[in-house]
Amino acid sequence: MASRYDLMNDLMSRGLHRVWKDIMITTLNPPKNEAPFALIDVAGGTGDIAFRAAKAAGSGFRATVCDINTDMLDVGRNRAPRVISTSRFRSSRAMRKRWRFPTAPLTPTPSRSGSATCRGIDAALREAYRVLRPGSRFLCLEFSTVDVPGLDRLYDFFSFKVIPPLGRAVTGDADSYQYLVESIRKFSQANAFAEMIRAAAFRG
Ligand SMILES: C[S@@+](CC[C@H](N)C(=O)[O-])C[C@H]1O[C@@H](n2cnc3c(N)ncnc32)[C@H](O)[C@@H]1O
Repeated sequence: MASRYDLMNDLMSRGLHRVWKDIMITTLNPPKNEAPFALIDVAGGTGDIAFRAAKAAGSGFRATVCDINTDMLDVGRNRAPRVISTSRFRSSRAMRKRWRFPTAPLTPTPSRSGSATCRGIDAALREAYRVLRPGSRFLCLEFSTVDVPGLDRLYDFFSFKVIPPLGRAVTGDADSYQYLVESIRKFSQANAFAEMIRAAAFRG
């Protein structure tokens, strides 16, 4: 399943996830020179975001991708040499009380969709704050609910009637995609999540 995860992303979002990630990398704006720049990609899956950041960055860039799912990390690790040789991959749970990172050398923390599946998001946000050194940034790419009348029904239809069967056809696993769409529905609204981020001491 992990080997077809990125293909599934393209099919589910009709390629839109590439645009979202590109916007994230533009916002991240890593230095193009040899200045040190460290990134932790939490719930980084196969490392797609970290690889994009590496392409946009200069020689001072290094990344750590962490994810709960070692199969995802294995897919990323096998791809890494072709794109970036300095990524390190670790298996870790975003909800561990203390992330296994030192506090000093780490800078921004993008993640995507890991927060939707985390219980105890407050603790994960506080931990993200702890491992970031002053001047670093926290970026989060996450789904939320759609509240545009009409579009919300279309979104629900696509989420529940199309994505799980598509997941079965492409990866042989409908359950994980059913879980994904359900977890997105249970996740906070964007404004509430922004408030949780602020409450964890982050300032915009
Ligand atoms: C939708 S994928 C996103 C992967 C990647 N960030 C991307 O954009 O392609 C969500 C990832 O979060 C990971 N994940 C879910 N819960 C997690 C947790 N509690 N701790 C760490 N990783 C988690 C999953 O294994 C999965 O790889």
